[in-house]
Amino acid sequence: MSELLDRIFGDRVALAEAYHESLATTAAQRGFIGPKEVDRLWERHILNCAVIAEAFGEGWKVADIGSGAGLPGIPLAIARPDLTITLVEPLLKRSTYLQEVVDELGLTNVTVVRGRAEDQPKAHFDAVTSRAVAPLGKLAGWSLPLVQGGGKMIAMKGESVGEELQRDAKDIEKAGGVDPEIIQVGTGLLDQPTTLIVVTRKKKGN
Ligand SMILES: C[S@@+](CC[C@H](N)C(=O)[O-])C[C@H]1O[C@@H](n2cnc3c(N)ncnc32)[C@H](O)[C@@H]1O
Repeated sequence: MSELLDRIFGDRVALAEAYHESLATTAAQRGFIGPKEVDRLWERHILNCAVIAEAFGEGWKVADIGSGAGLPGIPLAIARPDLTITLVEPLLKRSTYLQEVVDELGLTNVTVVRGRAEDQPKAHFDAVTSRAVAPLGKLAGWSLPLVQGGGKMIAMKGESVGEELQRDAKDIEKAGGVDPEIIQVGTGLLDQPTTLIVVTRKKKGN
């Protein structure tokens, strides 16, 4: 495990361990993490979120919408200090927890915003990410307006994302999305790689 953590988090492994500890204690006590999840926080939550790092370009400004207890935004921010990440979460208890963790870990590349995705500044980010927030069509309608033309929605999804894509292709197009791609990340690192759907926001005039 420690070699894997080194490969994913480099010299920031201690921050990932501190986040693990916080999820296993504070977040679990406050009911943000189910009791069954506590024993599998690394594989099912922290590492599978951190490996999405490979889909993001150098220095990007990123929003994690519906961040909950910080997934995927906090593992991503730990693995990639070059990114500037905004965690967007409407529920007060969750956004309060997020600010506490960000302060405790000293994550200077992370800002917490209490609010809904729909109300965030438009065309402001290079990418918007999320996990387990909404069906694909709705998610595209929330995510794509927040990115600039040429920017990306990079959403963690389950294996049935292909069916979601077929079902919601029109909604994606309506939200200004083009070139949807389903990719796997974390191959060679995790037993179960993470599936992402990446959709580009059409540039004006294209
Ligand atoms: C199932 S949880 C997932 C949390 C986290 N992304 C994870 O994977 O553990 C869904 C989250 O989306 C948030 N949410 C619901 N509606 C939202 C909206 N309109 N904008 C942003 N977040 C929203 C909820 O408050 C909740 O924290």
